[in-house]
Amino acid sequence: MPSNRWKSELVDVAPLREPLVFRPSGRVVRNRLFKTAMTEGLASWSPRDISQRGMPTAASVELYRRWGEEANTFGIIETGNIDIEYDQINAIGDMIITLNDAPSGTRFEGFVSIAKAAKANGALIIGQTAHPGNQLHAHIRSNTISASDIQLVPKKGPLGEFYAKPRAATQDDIDHIVASFVHAAEYLAAAGFDGMQLHAAHGYLLAQFLSGRMNRRTDAYGGSISNRARIVVEIAQGVRSSPRVPKDFILAIKLNSVEFQEGGLTAEEARQLVATIDASEGSGEEGGPFDYVELSGGTWHSTGMTWDRESTRRREAFFIEFAEKIVPALGQSPRKTKVFITGGIRSAAAMVGALDVVDGVGLGRPAAQEPRIANDILEGRITSSIKPQKALEDISMGLRLAGTQMGQIGKGEEPLDASDEQAAREFLADEAKWHAAMMADGDKLELSGYVKLSTPQRPYGE
Ligand SMILES: Cc1cc2nc3c(=O)[nH]c(=O)nc-3n(C[C@H](O)[C@H](O)[C@H](O)COP(=O)(O)O)c2cc1C
Repeated sequence: MPSNRWKSELVDVAPLREPLVFRPSGRVVRNRLFKTAMTEGLASWSPRDISQRGMPTAASVELYRRWGEEANTFGIIETGNIDIEYDQINAIGDMIITLNDAPSGTRFEGFVSIAKAAKANGALIIGQTAHPGNQLHAHIRSNTISASDIQLVPKKGPLGEFYAKPRAATQDDIDHIVASFVHAAEYLAAAGFDGMQLHAAHGYLLAQFLSGRMNRRTDAYGGSISNRARIVVEIAQGVRSSPRVPKDFILAIKLNSVEFQEGGLTAEEARQLVATIDASEGSGEEGGPFDYVELSGGTWHSTGMTWDRESTRRREAFFIEFAEKIVPALGQSPRKTKVFITGGIRSAAAMVGALDVVDGVGLGRPAAQEPRIANDILEGRITSSIKPQKALEDISMGLRLAGTQMGQIGKGEEPLDASDEQAAREFLADEAKWHAAMMADGDKLELSGYVKLSTPQRPYGE
């Protein structure tokens, strides 16, 4: 039985096949589709010996091999967030590179293998680096740093999330964070990565500095837009001036186009932020230090990742109406700093349509469901992604489904077909068991990864 797919008007996908030249790196990406960051949950984990956490595994390498394997696969493959501390992490099973990690040994060889596997057919591989700040879960560590000492209220989520207590970062903390991100870029470059992306969206630490709602500082890192952007600019300048980062290394940033909370970032502020960052020194004559800005939105508490808004119903992309306000800050196409958009895009028609506003289109959950999706769309074999059953459609359940599918790919399987009613029912039953086990595990931290399937599933695409 063929998979059920999203509807798409018939369109010529030639615009998606157009290459793009990045500046300042000078690198060429061969098409306009990229696989966006999704934390894989596949790296090594140890509850107590924290330095043993976050090493890529054979499953991590297999996952990236699959995303890179087709002749016309994604132009760019972004990794899931790579944390810069062993115990201030976004999720158990994230990959980790800290200041303690020299570019040698098992961890480093794991990153080398991922880069090789992802690049086998010409995709560029970009490592996304991140720090959770006050979004750190309290069962992982009870205290953390943030721009200010604002603790998040517990989220009434399926996992009953409680958050660590933050203190406002000192100058020493900020210097350490900047040095850690710069070190990660040097490490990734040495491992054969084509670039690094700073995760400054979704309410994580760098987004906490950028957002007036979370940043109440009165020093050089708070207040005006240029002060709030300072930490990001310092990291970018550190990367660009490092003798251990090649000149053709791609530097990118994932930014929120908007936050959906009282006092949160507005699209107008995001426009000013993008303009400020782009005007900062960092790459000589050519201006801003970033090759591309990826626009997303929301925070962990309020993701905004729904198809409810009117413009989204028409154009699929969650944040396209905000992107329209922000992109002009970077100039008309062909602009120096390229802009990509991620979130909600499912049909070839919406992908091609988004190129009227931005330069490239990111796919998250569809890439976990169908590792061959870019190739199949660019070669005209399909015109949209698989449409999951309704119960698996929202970001919360969709995240767990995508995590499970990434785990299946890592094991050499094909992902389950989420458009299939029985497969969805079985996944939800396993998810309920997984949820109970996670709750029982609490701060023992012995469980890692996403939902494990108890019944064999029919592979997608059959
Ligand atoms: C399983 C999963 C893990 C994710 N992990 C990350 C991450 O590590 N970094 C990040 O910036 N966004 C992460 N996201 C958000 C995605 O990058 C993307 O913004 C979101 O899924 C919306 O895109 P989509 O509708 O194409 O899935 C994750 C999403 C999923 C589903």
